[in-house]
Formats: sequence, structure tokens, C-alpha cells
Amino acid sequence: MRSIRRTLLIWILGALSLGALLVALVTYLVTLEEMNEVFDGDLRNVAEAVASYHHAGHHEEGEAPLEQPVRTDVPDETEIVTLTWTARGQRVYSSDPRVNLPFTTIEGLSRPVVAGEEWIVYSSVRPAGVAQAAQRVASRKEMAGESAGKVFPPLIGLVLLIGALLVFALRRGLQPLDAAARDIARRSAGSLEAITTDDAPAEIVPLVNSINGLMQRLGIAFTAQRRFLADAAHELRTPITALRLQLQLLERTTDDGERQRALAELHSGVDRSQRLVQQLLQVARSEQDGEATKMAPLDLAALVRAQVAAMSVKAEQSGLDLGADALVPVPAMGDEPRLGVLLENLIENALRYTPAGGIVDVSAGIEDGRPVIRVADNGPGIPEADRERMFERFHRGETAQSQSRDGSGLGLAIVKAIAERHRATVELRTPVSGRGLEVRIRFPRP
Ligand SMILES: Nc1ncnc2c1ncn2[C@@H]1O[C@H](COP(=O)(O)OP(=O)(O)OP(=O)(O)O)[C@@H](O)[C@H]1O
Ligand SMILES: [Mg+2]
Repeated sequence: MRSIRRTLLIWILGALSLGALLVALVTYLVTLEEMNEVFDGDLRNVAEAVASYHHAGHHEEGEAPLEQPVRTDVPDETEIVTLTWTARGQRVYSSDPRVNLPFTTIEGLSRPVVAGEEWIVYSSVRPAGVAQAAQRVASRKEMAGESAGKVFPPLIGLVLLIGALLVFALRRGLQPLDAAARDIARRSAGSLEAITTDDAPAEIVPLVNSINGLMQRLGIAFTAQRRFLADAAHELRTPITALRLQLQLLERTTDDGERQRALAELHSGVDRSQRLVQQLLQVARSEQDGEATKMAPLDLAALVRAQVAAMSVKAEQSGLDLGADALVPVPAMGDEPRLGVLLENLIENALRYTPAGGIVDVSAGIEDGRPVIRVADNGPGIPEADRERMFERFHRGETAQSQSRDGSGLGLAIVKAIAERHRATVELRTPVSGRGLEVRIRFPRP
């Protein structure tokens, strides 16, 4: 699992450790540079001193070589070895005869390699001879390394100290996150009040705010669901009570004709209940539930033709002229089964509320670049002032009650919910003929 704490620790401690290494490296280089300067000066002074001594006539050409010291000790790394030569390159003296430094007639510093060891040599060339002072380069590197090594432990200590402080600071800094998590964990499914952002650090306020937003939406959805369930239970109670009464009536009647009539009543009662349950299920399915609708490209004209064909028998039975005007394809994005339900509800309404002999026209087309479905009838229509309320669940119009008993007042609520899922608008208006109702569903521009 990714952890902010761990990521921060790794990066900061990594950067600090790298910094410590860099400091040590710089110390090493600077010390070496410094040492070179100092020791080069020393070598020069020693060589000059030896040269002056030599020149002062302590040793003459042709004289027997000076006695060389016999060295069997382990040489000190920092030791300065001095040599004197005659002008022709005959070694006169060496403070450590084991070191075979080459003869040179070039004044100044050189870095010969002798027996695998690098030396730094200052040669002082005079007419009488050459004096040299030499030192091992390794000794300088070693001393610089020692200096750098000395700064390293305190730096590592510092890194560890900062690490410890960081762990502590991060724990303190991230405490509000734990507190918010505990706050949420303590809640029951029903408690959706907002988490306070009062003492939350600025970094987590956006997160808390979006959780609060989600909880608010959940709260609205919960309330809607609860209300719907209450409504549904209430609405179902009426037809079931009616069914029970009709059953009792049927049981009591002995007369054959009356029995037939009671049976027919019972049948339509069952039909009504079935339709109610279907509509309730449709509402539950169409409501926004946070899930995205499965949109796919489809042809609204084909959908209109299919739905009109499917309902033509019903229209004929009601003595209505149902027609489709959808010859040109109207491409749109949508969820086909749901749009079928939407159309079915609109055509169903038109058929139900338009008196026999009426005309119902269903069409699909494009207006201002937007796909549109229209369902128009020449029935009684809905008074303008009542139109908005017809979208409420279980709300039925005045005309509806008088014209038809079977209706639950859910059709337009379903239509609206499905349209909203498609980001389409629903409009109720009076057709140009001035009579009836026209419902227009306008989809967003593709
Ligand atoms: N084409 C129409 N002409 C006249 N009134 C209509 C028309 N369509 C709907 N209405 C009015 O709008 C009300 C609500 O319609 P809606 O489709 O939501 O419910 P319903 O038809 O009564 O019941 P349901 O469709 O659930 O069986 C209806 O009761 C009716 O009064
Ligand atoms: Mg309806």
C-alpha cells in the first residue's frame, strides 16, 4: 500500500544522505587541494634548503659519495625524502636509499611513479647539482580522506536526528486524517451529517468536502428512496384491498350473471395491480442511482416506428388513429430499452386520455441540431398551470380520474427520470392545432 509518510521519509532522508555524501566529498577535495598547496610549499622549501646546503660547498664534484643512511624501518607515509645529485646525475645522498627517484634537470614539481607508488617531487636545479624533496601522494590522499571521514559521522547523526523528528512531525501532521477516519468509522449507515472541516488541515479539506458532498447526495437519494417506498406501499394497499373485496363478493354471489361481472372486475383489478407494480419497478430502475447509463448509438426513428407498431393494436381497440412520422434516421446516443419505456409511457398516455376518434402522432427528427422525439394527440390536453405537477410521482390529473381508472400517476415521472439520464429535456405544450397535448423530448447535440 502506498503511504505518504513512507514516501516523504524515503525522499527526504535519501536527499539528506546524498547531501551528507556530497559534503564529505567536497571536504575531501577541498582538503586535498589545501594540503597540496601547503605540502608543495614545504617540499619546495626543503628542496631549496638542501640545495643551498649542497651548494654551500659541503660536497664537491669527484668526492666520494656521502655515507647513505641504512634504512630498514617501515617508512612513514608522510615522510619527506631528500636527495642530492651532482649536475651529471650521480646520486650523492638520499635520506632513504630504498626509494629510487629518477634524476631530473627540470626545476619544479613532478609526479613520478616509483615501484608502484606515486611520488610528488620538488627538484631544485643549481649549476652545482640537483636537490630534491619528495613525498608520497598517497599520504596526502589519506590525510584528506581522514578529514572527510571525520565530518561524515556527525552528518549521519544529523540525518538520523532529522529522520526521527520527521517521523514525529509526520505522525502529528497526519493525525487529523486518523481523526477523520475514526469519525467516519463511528457513524452508522443512517448518519450522513457532514464531517467538520474546522480543525482539518488545508490539505485534507478538499477530500473532506468531497466526502461531505457525496454524503449529501447519498442523503438526498436515501430520503427519496424512503419516500418512494412509503408511497409504493401506500399505493399498493388500495388495489390489494380492492382485490380482497372483489374476492369476497365473488365468494358470496350465487347468481351466475353477477358472478361473471365480479370475475371481470377481479380480472381488471389484477391487471391494474400488475401495471402498478410494473410502473413502480420502472420508477425504481429509472431514478438516478449514481450509475452511468449504458449509452450506445441508436436510431430514434427506428425506435419510434417499432414502438408505434407495437401499440397499434391497442390504438385500434380504442378507436384511435396512431401514426408514426419517422422515415429519416435520427442518430442519437442512448439506452435503447429505457428509451423504449419512455416512448411506451408517452404513447400509452396519449391513447388513454384521447377520446375515441382522436389522432395520435409520434415523430422523430432533428431540431437545431438536436435529436427530438414528439408525441402529440388531440385529446383534452393538460391546462398549462397543471403541467409541472404531472411529473410528480403518483400525481394524476383531473381529466385522468374521470376518463380512466387504471393509472398510477407514475408514467411522466418515469419519462422525466429516463430523459434526465440522457441529459434530455421534457416539454409539455399545446400542439399548433390548439387542442391536445404534445410532449417533446429534446436530446443533447451529439
Ligand atoms: N396525453 C395526455 N393528455 C391529457 N392528459 C395527460 C396526457 N398525458 C398525461 N396526462 C395527465 O398527466 C397525468 C400524469 O400522467 P402519468 O403518465 O404520469 O400518470 P398516469 O397516466 O395517470 O398513470 P400511469 O402512466 O402511471 O399508468 C395523468 O393522470 C393525466 O392527467
Ligand atoms: Mg401514464
